[in-house]
Amino acid sequence: MHKDTLLKKLNDKTAVIGIVGLGYVGLPLSLRYSEVGYRVVGFDIDQEKVDALMRGETYIEHIGSEGIAKAIQSGFEPTADLSRARDVDALILCVPTPLNKYREPDLSFVLNTVDALVPHMRGGQVMSLESTTYPGTTEEELRPRLEKAGFKIGEDAFLVFSPEREDPGNAKFTTHTIPKVCGGSTPSCLEVGLALYGQVINTVVPVSSTQAAELTKLLENIHRAVNIGLVNEMKIIADRMGIDIHEVIRAAATKPFGFVPYYPGPGLGGHCIPIDPFYLTWKAREYGLHTRFIELAGEINSTMPEWVIEKVTEALNEREKPVRGSKILVLGIAYKKNVDDMRESPSVELMTLLQAKGAQIDYSDPHVPSFPKMRRYSFDLESVELTPETLASYDLVLLATDHDRFDYDTIEKHAKLIVDTRGRYLGKRSNVVKA
Ligand SMILES: NC(=O)c1ccc[n+]([C@@H]2O[C@H](COP(=O)([O-])OP(=O)(O)OC[C@H]3O[C@@H](n4cnc5c(N)ncnc54)[C@H](O)[C@@H]3O)[C@@H](O)[C@H]2O)c1
Repeated sequence: MHKDTLLKKLNDKTAVIGIVGLGYVGLPLSLRYSEVGYRVVGFDIDQEKVDALMRGETYIEHIGSEGIAKAIQSGFEPTADLSRARDVDALILCVPTPLNKYREPDLSFVLNTVDALVPHMRGGQVMSLESTTYPGTTEEELRPRLEKAGFKIGEDAFLVFSPEREDPGNAKFTTHTIPKVCGGSTPSCLEVGLALYGQVINTVVPVSSTQAAELTKLLENIHRAVNIGLVNEMKIIADRMGIDIHEVIRAAATKPFGFVPYYPGPGLGGHCIPIDPFYLTWKAREYGLHTRFIELAGEINSTMPEWVIEKVTEALNEREKPVRGSKILVLGIAYKKNVDDMRESPSVELMTLLQAKGAQIDYSDPHVPSFPKMRRYSFDLESVELTPETLASYDLVLLATDHDRFDYDTIEKHAKLIVDTRGRYLGKRSNVVKA
């Protein structure tokens, strides 16, 4: 009975959708549900985010304020009051899943959220976890919490795992054009999950269990981490042989089948690729297994910042300058091009390593006007405006993140020396060192 009522509400869009965690994942999803006509309640424990949204303001660069203002007008209700969980038919959890200091899964955000929501839940709701996590989280952690509160999964509460696949900064895809995988705790749960996403996502891909859905997400990210590790190793080898790896990748990518290009860089960044693979490493241990590819890729990827610093040191040395006392401008401190997201950014590690060697560091990033507060790093810096004069005043310009908004011709013309970690400058250039 509960299932039929909920399915009907989801299908005719009279269901109220609760999105919990209004960050990079939860906010665009909320706007999408609102856009197609659902009433949406957005939950976040960060009151500042809630207040900004109520004013119709954005706090994520690539999500425009207009969309938020429009959603608010159509009834989107941001709130920090988790007891409002009783007013919604669906609870979609989009909270962080970081690693702790031992590089093990930190599920505290997910579990605290579930513990805070469960006392306010009533019969006939669906809970969907979207946060990336190890296989078994939904069944081993969420399900018992709901059952302890008296719910019968598949009868009066429905539980699914449906991983998130946002690609911030990628203009080719938006939330609804990215196919979404969904697995349910029971066949009824899956049926409800498919209805939950069916109206807002063009293609929903069912899988047979929540575990399969959890591992799907990890496979996608591990695939990236391992291939980036491979190409970073290839870069080191090609560099020693005097070959430009970027030229090679571009050539290989003309093969119309069987090759997918991955690009080397100064190290892994972002909230997913450096972190998610270790969720599987941790869980695999329970089964007596080692995730050797993950460990090896992690080893190579994590040494990339040091490799770049060696290149910087050599480039300065060639010009009879020590790193100590040199003025270095880091271009791009977001973790990838055209976004403002600084999480796990390798640029910050480069800045830290260079500063430790006595360099004077500045940065320029059109997406990050001032250096934000970070858990592990602190730089009291504002983004330097790129002019011929400012560029010429540095001993070295380190291109760490190749935003499209940089004027690469001006940079090349006026910088004394450029270390390019992104393959932006092809061919031989008198003042460019590739790293
Ligand atoms: N950012 C991406 O591109 C991306 C892509 C795929 C998957 N993911 C996964 O999605 C999940 C969320 O990532 P994100 O990038 O949106 O994180 P985020 O840090 O941008 O947002 C998370 C939000 O959750 C809020 N929050 C924390 N605890 C809460 C609670 N108890 N109740 C309500 N709100 C709470 C935080 O205040 C924050 O606003 C993670 O598991 C991540 O691995 C992210």
